[in-house]
Amino acid sequence: MAKKTVKDIDVKHKRVLVRVDFNVPMDENQNVTDDKRIVAALPTINYLLQNNARVILCSHLGRPKGKFVKEMSLKPVSERLQALLPGVNVSFVNDCIGEEVKKAAEALRDGEILLLENLRFYKEEEMNDPEFAKKLSQIAEIYVSDAFGTVHRAHASTEGVAKYLPAVAGFLIGKELSVMGEALENPIRPFVAVLGGKKVSDKIGVITNLLNICDSLIIGGAMAYTFFKAKGYETGDSLLDEENIGLAKELMETAARKGIKLLLPVDTVVADRFAADAAYKTVPADGIPEGWMGMDIGERTRKLFGDEIKKAKTVIWNGPMGVFEFDAFAKGTEALAEACANCEGTTIIGGGDSASAVKKLGYASKMTHISTGGGASLEYMEGKVLPGVAALNDK
Ligand code: 3PG
Repeated sequence: MAKKTVKDIDVKHKRVLVRVDFNVPMDENQNVTDDKRIVAALPTINYLLQNNARVILCSHLGRPKGKFVKEMSLKPVSERLQALLPGVNVSFVNDCIGEEVKKAAEALRDGEILLLENLRFYKEEEMNDPEFAKKLSQIAEIYVSDAFGTVHRAHASTEGVAKYLPAVAGFLIGKELSVMGEALENPIRPFVAVLGGKKVSDKIGVITNLLNICDSLIIGGAMAYTFFKAKGYETGDSLLDEENIGLAKELMETAARKGIKLLLPVDTVVADRFAADAAYKTVPADGIPEGWMGMDIGERTRKLFGDEIKKAKTVIWNGPMGVFEFDAFAKGTEALAEACANCEGTTIIGGGDSASAVKKLGYASKMTHISTGGGASLEYMEGKVLPGVAALNDK
């Protein structure tokens, strides 16, 4: 990596502010229901502890829009972190800037952890306010960025703070960038990219960039219906990204011109309404009846996509194949997860919904890499500059 990492800086006896992404799901009783992101930050945290640093962790949780929201407090996360690090002193402070925080940071000893309260309780965090960033920096001597899920945001704690402290990357950032960077820059071929999700507009940048890199591009999810429309098929009541029908056509033409195989569903599961218990049936891609909506890829498509993945040496997948929250329409996403799990090549799962689906289906350990960042991994796949990485010190 072209950026300095924690290994390039002396952290001994230093107060190190680490931006982590502890934006974890919680149930109604504020119990953390998935601690993957906390666990993913442990290599950096443990390295700092072993090297006698004083670790100050900061993160956002949810989107409280600059106000205190009890349900979005990071307090329960500090409890989970303590459970994951039984021999370590983990404390929590009810704020992220100010006198109380300063005192708590100064009281920290080598090998101890302090977790600050949700940064987004201040609107200045998302505004990347320089004064707020400065205040945050004043409690530490070194800044470490390890919040991969948030590096696409230019916020005070991800970008602004790096102006005031020596700023280096943690191990999670290093791992995410190297696995995905290698696949995008130097993929072992055949390289198959799979994109799902709802809107073409969300994925234009990714599709455009991937059409310069991959050998095959598989498109599933609701996004496929916009492509169907561009091919002149009737799509019934399926979700459509009306504004981008023309663009879908252009993307298909680009793929053809570049000799890239673009695979669309050949059959689709349609339902009479958007509900878990809707009536459903499988129809050919060009045979969606009026009044019915596409909810998942059909059986022939599952085989078609699965066979393509079987031949791949590199697979990147982002976005579910159907409405996988409803059991009746989860088969496409399940089949794709299974195909990736059985693929002998490198399999990289973008964060967000596809990562949740893979975990829910029990295939997580079979994948080469599951990104901790949904939006961040998409922007990286688009070839965009990630502000939270760009702000770090060069080697
Ligand atoms: C995520 O969950 O993708 C990250 O934590 C970023 O959250 P955000 O989309 O609210 O900035």
